[in-house]
Amino acid sequence: MSTRAHWTNRIAFILAATGSAIGLGNIWKFPYIAGVNGGGAFVMIYLACILAIGVPIFIAELYIGQKGQANAITSFEITDKKGTPWQIAGWMGMLAAILILSFYSVVGGWILDFEYRSLLGEFMSQTDEQIQGTLGGLFADWKRQMFWHFIFMTLVIGIVIAGVKNGLERWNKILMPALFAILILLLVRVTMMDGFSQAIGFLFSFDASKLTKAGVLEAVGHSFFTLSLGMGTILTYGSYLSERERLPRVAVQVAFLDTLIALIAGVVIFTVVFSFNLEPGAGPGLIFSTLPSLFVKMTGGSILSIAFFLLVTFAALTSAVSILEVPVAFVCEKYGIGRKKTTLLIGGFIYLMGYLSIFSFNIMSDVKILGLNFFDLFDKISSNWLLPIGGMLISLFVGWRLGKSAVDSALSDYPPFARTTFLWSIRVLAPLGVVLLMGHTLGWW
Ligand code: TRP
Repeated sequence: MSTRAHWTNRIAFILAATGSAIGLGNIWKFPYIAGVNGGGAFVMIYLACILAIGVPIFIAELYIGQKGQANAITSFEITDKKGTPWQIAGWMGMLAAILILSFYSVVGGWILDFEYRSLLGEFMSQTDEQIQGTLGGLFADWKRQMFWHFIFMTLVIGIVIAGVKNGLERWNKILMPALFAILILLLVRVTMMDGFSQAIGFLFSFDASKLTKAGVLEAVGHSFFTLSLGMGTILTYGSYLSERERLPRVAVQVAFLDTLIALIAGVVIFTVVFSFNLEPGAGPGLIFSTLPSLFVKMTGGSILSIAFFLLVTFAALTSAVSILEVPVAFVCEKYGIGRKKTTLLIGGFIYLMGYLSIFSFNIMSDVKILGLNFFDLFDKISSNWLLPIGGMLISLFVGWRLGKSAVDSALSDYPPFARTTFLWSIRVLAPLGVVLLMGHTLGWW
């Protein structure tokens, strides 16, 4: 496998893993689903899931990739044996990758549209009502959405064809900290707004009565989605790790940064929501109807708005690339098809599938499957079911199939108690957590 590219150093790898984790999940999805699910109690479960389920599975995934040095499916065969049934987790991951990217890219397109409007200075002369109506207009305009979705997918495909190393490493170092800086700036600004304390109360006070069964599952699913877990992304990235790396440390660092960004985005957005008496449960359009109103009120708002949507575009691209990388790495290595051809083929297919998500907001808005439009259906099936089940299989695979000796070798730099804690986290705690929370949603208890 000496022909495979490797990360130049561990910082490059951490940046890439963070780049994958931090994306629309933090800035768009977390605030919107926290709002739909009533805030505090949802946030608490989500945080608990990150710690007790996300971090151990993150380590397990990195381990399989690092040992297997191959794509998500082949790595199972290399670490176990050819034809191992555990590779089913890899196959589920392929499906999840395609479903997720098909709607993720549509949302990436909305971000591009808002970047374009920011460049034109459109928001600066608008009232709050007009700003809040903008997304509705975009939702109705499927041709415009198709256009931006096309641009977004083209960028993703281009970057994946260029390869993991040259494509992103260099930019990650500059743009991720810049995104962080701009969020801090927004955070400082919203502390001066009326709705700030209400936003803090909404996000951080635990009120179990607001939580529904579906909300619990959503919190579990989102802990996977936001850390890019459960479908082989982190596994695939781990497979580009050459040196012996202290995996737990990487996992904790990525989880910490990812959570921090989501919480800051949440506080900013809900402060705007409460300051302008908007609806916290507004759904997928939440950040689009709130943030431009905030920019308009800030000095240098038009520049901020341009910078913000640009940086979010970048964050979304690094995540989207890590999603597409999973099926591409597999098909290239397994079937020996060229990287360029594979990327174009899979990327093109995903682009077309995205149309179903676009049409969910206009011409096909009455088409419901299991009570959901395509956009919600693809999100819920992949985030709330495929990822947690995939993650559970990954965790059981490392914990029981590869077992204690694998864990000892992965964590050889750590003291015995840390290894034991990790072993039982992936053997019992994380899988049981997923089963209990899923069972709860299904009404088993
Ligand atoms: N974690 C990314 C986000 O929050 C999205 C993402 C990238 C992802 N790779 C993934 C989600 C793999 C699930 C699985 O935006």
